[in-house]
Amino acid sequence: MTDLRSNMFQMAKDVLHNAYVPYSHYKVGCCIRTTNNQFFVGCNVENAVYGLTCCAEANAIVNMIIHGEKQIAEMIIIAESETCCVPCGGCRQRISEFASGDILIHMGTHQSLTETKTLSELLPLAFGAAHFKQ
Ligand code: THU
Repeated sequence: MTDLRSNMFQMAKDVLHNAYVPYSHYKVGCCIRTTNNQFFVGCNVENAVYGLTCCAEANAIVNMIIHGEKQIAEMIIIAESETCCVPCGGCRQRISEFASGDILIHMGTHQSLTETKTLSELLPLAFGAAHFKQ
């Protein structure tokens, strides 16, 4: 793993510990690198009203936006789990709002990264503003 990637992996691992998951007990951590080489993390935050749960990726994106950054260059998504974490469909669309199709998304567990895909591989034929903006 490159130094950059292992630093991002460590950031995702650190934030994963703060995940609030009393219902699923499935801790997810995410680290975004922006095109300006800034880093933003997020973890999942659940709610007794299950539908109000916020995914780790969504929270990392909110963190990025409130700090004035908008363009994702690369991402790491991991879970405290035996199997590789992959972003849910909704989060694929959220990522797509702020990233080009060729960015790399590295996925895995708290132990290692096991998969890398481009956003286009995870979300082919993505719907975006270009579909309705003339
Ligand atoms: N979760 C995420 O944080 N990101 C995903 O992309 C998949 C699902 C969280 C939501 C919930 O807290 C738990 O994982 C189980 O669905």
